[in-house]
Amino acid sequence: MRTQVAIVGAGPAGLFLAHLLRAAGIDGVVLERRSREHVEGRVRAGILEQGTVDVLARLGLDGRLRRDGLVHTGTNLTADGETVRIDLAALTGGRAVTVYGQQEVMRDLFDAAEARGLPVVFGAEDLRLHDIEGDRPGVSYRTQAGEGRLACDFIAGCDGFHGVSRRAIPPGVLDIVERVYPFGWLGILADVPPAAHELVYASHANGFALASMRSETRSRYYIQCGIEERVEDWPDGRFWDELCLRLGPALADHVVRGPSFEKGIAPLRSFVAEPMRHGRLFLAGDAAHIVPPTGAKGLNLAVSDVVMLAEALAEFYRGRSTAGLDGYSARALARVWKAERFSWWFTRLMHRFPDATGFDRRMQVAELAYLGTSRAAQTVLAENYVGLPLDPV
Ligand code: FAD
Ligand code: DHB
Repeated sequence: MRTQVAIVGAGPAGLFLAHLLRAAGIDGVVLERRSREHVEGRVRAGILEQGTVDVLARLGLDGRLRRDGLVHTGTNLTADGETVRIDLAALTGGRAVTVYGQQEVMRDLFDAAEARGLPVVFGAEDLRLHDIEGDRPGVSYRTQAGEGRLACDFIAGCDGFHGVSRRAIPPGVLDIVERVYPFGWLGILADVPPAAHELVYASHANGFALASMRSETRSRYYIQCGIEERVEDWPDGRFWDELCLRLGPALADHVVRGPSFEKGIAPLRSFVAEPMRHGRLFLAGDAAHIVPPTGAKGLNLAVSDVVMLAEALAEFYRGRSTAGLDGYSARALARVWKAERFSWWFTRLMHRFPDATGFDRRMQVAELAYLGTSRAAQTVLAENYVGLPLDPV
């Protein structure tokens, strides 16, 4: 089998790229290790930047999002009984974020891939990349139907943090920086109305908590927990009690408790591998970088990466110019580093670090107080939260 672009991984990066390439008249084949049900079932991101919503609209994939997505023009930070509302729209010239779960985004992308005849191979195991430094790269894999081999012009490594693409780059090429945080997020889903109409990020002496949602009848809550803790340590009753304590009494009054039907612990990490290209292999999304979830940036960064990659590939196939491809890594990383900075800053502001001193806590409280009174500080938060623009080529 031959195609122009072999796309490894059918997460947000891989499927958005497949759709963007199709819109530009470029052929691609997506190779995914797991089943559609598995990829679609993963409960992850919930907040879409304006730019991500715009890409879905451009691809004609925003029908359900327009109907079911919740547009939020503000977000809230709370600590010690004081709540600061960040008026995203007023501070950014009318921009906003949309609450629409990654599971819904994936369903829309997969449905449209089927309707538009985009080839996606599920259950592609033992996937290997070949000749990425030459000009005839390829990918081999195995499915229940037997061995497969895909010859291509380029490979897009969209296979997430644990994928094979980044590891196919020879040792010594990538510059990798990483920070692993000494805590995780314990998240639940429950079919109860959200405590507030907007998200609330809470900083408490016991640790961080977040009140989020998926709809007007489904809540998503997170609390900071130790990385050594297990889901079994957190029966629903304990989770609700600790959540209410950290959100503070005013909001706790509005928390509706109910049985959770999803409960999981995610570690927090900052990670960047650069450059995002080696030979004919281009990395995008979590394969190249991870942010801690506090800024809600991971999925949105995957989308902005592939928008830039699709533009570069379109430029190549239109006129055989490699300028866009040569500039892809630097252009993508310029935005990635800003999102890394914001996610790190917001994580540091809101979480309890095990080695924090009394001084560190006072600095957090002082910074939150400053955010409460300074329009300039609020603007910095707002413009990052709704998503920075893509740097020009
Ligand atoms: P992935 O989603 O990891 O997709 C990679 C795909 O590649 C997977 O389907 C995988 O099965 C496949 N794959 C892996 N290895 C192979 C292989 N060897 N061969 C073939 N296929 C392979 N982001 C936000 O923007 N906003 C949020 O609010 C947010 N909240 C989050 C909350 C949590 C709890 C978590 C865990 C994440 C959150 N994120 C959020 C991050 C977001 O989910 C990820 O950044 C996003 O999924 C990255 O997309 P991706 O396509 O790059 O990688
Ligand atoms: C959600 C996740 C985040 O990481 C975040 O910052 C906001 C919301 C969510 O899953 O709803």
